[in-house]
Amino acid sequence: MTSTSLEFCVYSKENIPTQEVAKEISSVFINNYPEIYPEEIRKSDCNRYSTPEKIQEQVQNGNAWIVASTNNKIFGIAKFRLENRHHLINTEEYLLSWIIVDKPHRNKGIAKKILDEYLKILNKIKRNSNNQIFSIADIHKNNLISRKIFKNIGCKEGVGKSPEFILAKKEIL
Ligand SMILES: CC(C)(COP(=O)(O)OP(=O)(O)OC[C@H]1O[C@@H](n2cnc3c(N)ncnc32)[C@H](O)[C@@H]1OP(=O)(O)O)[C@@H](O)C(=O)NCCC(=O)NCCS
Repeated sequence: MTSTSLEFCVYSKENIPTQEVAKEISSVFINNYPEIYPEEIRKSDCNRYSTPEKIQEQVQNGNAWIVASTNNKIFGIAKFRLENRHHLINTEEYLLSWIIVDKPHRNKGIAKKILDEYLKILNKIKRNSNNQIFSIADIHKNNLISRKIFKNIGCKEGVGKSPEFILAKKEIL
């Protein structure tokens, strides 16, 4: 695959994924779930994304997916909330909760390109807001590749939601 054949699509309330697309998102999610998490967490997370209907419902509820594909085959996905996580004065935080690339396509810069698409969306939000805008992501401390991709886009690491997690945070300027 060449990088020129990569296509990106954003699914949100305004553009609900079709049954077929949601099914592919589900299969990329389930087949490439991070190995570092315990079995019960894997089961519960995979159950949440196990059917096209569940994915479509989450999009209706304010979640968005960026999908990377070539020839209509999806091999990279990222999920984030298009809503401010905390209602702090003058500050908006947007949470990227998942980024997953199909195993055979890893280490070719696909996650980096998906994150670039995500940052474009946050840049657009920033241009229409007087608030400080932050991207945030909770990352398992042992997920070194994930920590690397967020550092590569300029995130700083801080205290996470529990001792196992760090918070990768970047201000959108
Ligand atoms: C994390 C993930 C999305 C990265 O996707 P990818 O397309 O392979 O990422 P990229 O090719 O853009 O970048 C990978 C980076 O990690 C680096 N890397 C690869 N193996 C590594 C390792 N063992 N330790 C640390 N860094 C590593 C690469 O060198 C590259 O950094 P560089 O561009 O500075 O050289 C992919 O590994 C994945 O789907 N993992 C399972 C799901 C997951 O854990 N997601 C994150 C939590 S939501």
